[in-house]
Amino acid sequence: MKDFADKVAFVTGGASGIGLGIVKALIGAGAKVVLADLRQDHLDEALAHFRGRGLAERVHGIRLDVTDRAAMASAAAETEKRFGKVHVLVNNAGVGIEGPLRHATYDDWDFGLGVNLGGVVNGIQTFVPRIRAHGEGGHVVNTASLAGLVWMPSFMTVYTTSKAAVITLSECIRDDLAPDHIGVSVLCPGPVKSNIHQAGRNRPEKFRGSSGFAEAEAQLARRTVSPLWMEPEAVGERVLRAIRNDELYIITHGEWRDAFDQRTAAIRAAMPSEVNPDLIRSLRERR
Ligand SMILES: NC(=O)c1ccc[n+]([C@@H]2O[C@H](COP(=O)([O-])OP(=O)(O)OC[C@H]3O[C@@H](n4cnc5c(N)ncnc54)[C@H](O)[C@@H]3O)[C@@H](O)[C@H]2O)c1
Repeated sequence: MKDFADKVAFVTGGASGIGLGIVKALIGAGAKVVLADLRQDHLDEALAHFRGRGLAERVHGIRLDVTDRAAMASAAAETEKRFGKVHVLVNNAGVGIEGPLRHATYDDWDFGLGVNLGGVVNGIQTFVPRIRAHGEGGHVVNTASLAGLVWMPSFMTVYTTSKAAVITLSECIRDDLAPDHIGVSVLCPGPVKSNIHQAGRNRPEKFRGSSGFAEAEAQLARRTVSPLWMEPEAVGERVLRAIRNDELYIITHGEWRDAFDQRTAAIRAAMPSEVNPDLIRSLRERR
């Protein structure tokens, strides 16, 4: 996709941090954008930002929990009613879930995987058929993390598992969407200035009672944003460029290159060197 003028984008978690940075870039390129977000305070603040710049007509806010499939379908219908056909889907909503693995409960797993992976699945299931149906092509961006590409400590297991799955999912769906001229990118940011430390606040009531991460989330909530972290607007511009060039991987930071090489080298070293050249061919023929 090269031209964003009057095209329509749907951005989950679009009212804060990286999502808002992406929204700003899309608006700057001429798109009309729906910000779909769990938090009304984030939506109010983000919409006021655009109103203050005379851009109220180009944005629309929808309060949405990405784990709610019926609400996602309603949001898609509302988007089409307000702006028309959707071309760009950005599955960006996520929670920075972390805590000691030995204390993790099913509620912690369900919360983390539900938003970070389930939200992406729900976005794809809801919007891709609609993008296919209008036949004009488009693009899907899924926000994962550099944490899904390198070895991470067990404290991050739920988060990293969800993000690694989003990377694989993004890689896999490409060949299915390409014939309909729908590109796919996976965004793997390093540290970016945002409200990601408010994971506990974004945890629904049903997942609070038996969480083993309450203490970790309280601690995370006190974490301050470092001036060394990237501005979300810079990430937004990077995402825009990737959509234009149909780049699969959007990696914001080079600082984890060695860590990535170490992991890749370890996996490669574990692979036997003797190979049967007929094996891959026979598997291809069986498809
Ligand atoms: N900030 C970073 O350093 C960083 C690094 C790597 C990946 N990420 C990923 O970037 C994405 C955006 O995070 P961010 O850092 O901008 O954080 P953020 O908290 O500033 O923004 C996330 C937004 O998603 C919303 N949200 C949370 N749960 C939701 C749900 N169930 N349904 C709909 N909206 C929901 C929040 O209200 C918030 O507005 C996440 O997927 C995160 O995992 C962030």
